[in-house]
Amino acid sequence: MAQIFLDTASIDEVREAAAWGILDGVTTNPTLMMRAGTADLKENTLAIVSIVQGPVSAEVLSTDAAGMIEEAREILSWSEHVFVKIPVTVEGLKAMKEISAWPNGRVNATLIFSANQAYLAAKAGATYASVFVGRMDDAGLDGMEVVAQAREIFDNYGFDCQVLAASIRHPAHVLDALLVGADIITMPFGVLQKMIRSPFTDAGVEKFLQDWERAQGK
Ligand code: G3P
Repeated sequence: MAQIFLDTASIDEVREAAAWGILDGVTTNPTLMMRAGTADLKENTLAIVSIVQGPVSAEVLSTDAAGMIEEAREILSWSEHVFVKIPVTVEGLKAMKEISAWPNGRVNATLIFSANQAYLAAKAGATYASVFVGRMDDAGLDGMEVVAQAREIFDNYGFDCQVLAASIRHPAHVLDALLVGADIITMPFGVLQKMIRSPFTDAGVEKFLQDWERAQGK
């Protein structure tokens, strides 16, 4: 079964989506932290963990491998649910290779824009490979094709690394990610809301209620 993650640092959004019973985890990044108006990564990450009790990704800010490794050591110590997000760069791959060998080395390889990057992240031991679908589409590329390619490559070679469809813009992205076999789809709160809502469902509920009242002679 594909997992549904919320792509947000907003505690209110996480609390609301968790109450719907279909939330498996959360991904954050520095931009989402800024939007949520918080600068305390540890406090915010642990607040989210306490709500979802599932995987929550927090991103490093260092650009060199040594710095990423130091940050990862700290971030991963916060909770067994926390994953460290590391970009797929040369320095990031070096860091992933080392961190993923730790007993608690839960790595979310991020900012993936090609299947080759996804393959290298898996080879370096990442648990998740986050493919940025919407940003590729914005650039005139086919983001979902990279998700499909990553799926095929991981299956071809038996990688445990999970394909995470990120940078999701609308419900059609979610559907396509499900159809190409993404393991995880992380989406903004608004996209999750749009997945649920249908005017036909609302109209159907309304009609059933009206007809039930008529059946009672009201
Ligand atoms: O969190 C990673 C990714 O999902 C960000 O997406 O909307 O900034 O392209 P976006």
